[in-house]
Amino acid sequence: MSMALTSPLFTRCADADELARAAATVIVAAAHEALTLRGHFRLALSGGRTPHATYARLARAELDWQRVDLLFSDERCVPADHADSNFNRARAAFAAQPAAVARLLRMPGELPPADGARAYAAYLQAVPPSAPLFDLCLLGLGGDGHCASLFPGDRALQVEDQLVAAARAPVAPHDRLTLTFPALARSAQLLFLVAGADKAPVLAELLAGGGTQYPAARAARHPHARFLVSAEAWPASS
Ligand code: 6PG
Repeated sequence: MSMALTSPLFTRCADADELARAAATVIVAAAHEALTLRGHFRLALSGGRTPHATYARLARAELDWQRVDLLFSDERCVPADHADSNFNRARAAFAAQPAAVARLLRMPGELPPADGARAYAAYLQAVPPSAPLFDLCLLGLGGDGHCASLFPGDRALQVEDQLVAAARAPVAPHDRLTLTFPALARSAQLLFLVAGADKAPVLAELLAGGGTQYPAARAARHPHARFLVSAEAWPASS
């Protein structure tokens, strides 16, 4: 049965800058709550280009970075200094805040994918099962309905007994590391950051309660998932 996603789950932002402002506001609020309640904040960073402006805003936020862990929802299997590395891109975006850069815990994309997945999963398994794996996990959305590196038809979609899996993307770099659906389910909140007109058709289906074939639709069933959507990605019909 496809559970219709209700529109309050989706917030339309005037443009990419307003999306970044709104995203930073949500993240900082989650950080303050986690730091107050638990003395620590674990944030999983999304890859791709959309979140860059959000990370640059976060770098200017007043946070006790020593008590923040910046993890990743996925990575390309490339060296850490490669232009396509999500870690390398995040490090550039947070460059104004060296204390934040020091808190980046990258997925080891330079290892053989299965080894990299095992290594990152071993780190995440240190989080007590009773605690959220992340206080907040950021996700992007692909024009094919993927999120993280959970691509339609890929075997990583079937992984139910691991927190991190090796994945294959239809576009280069093909080898990826990704959080699995069980890992996303263990995040206290999911926040999708969506920009780009190519995402509008997928969003139109999700807003109408369809799109159940998309990996993002499964992730969006998380009880505390929400979307911040830049205007050009918002379906004209909605
Ligand atoms: C990646 C991502 C991927 C990304 C979407 C949206 O490593 O590429 O994690 O899931 O978030 O493809 O990418 P854009 O933000 O560049 O549109």
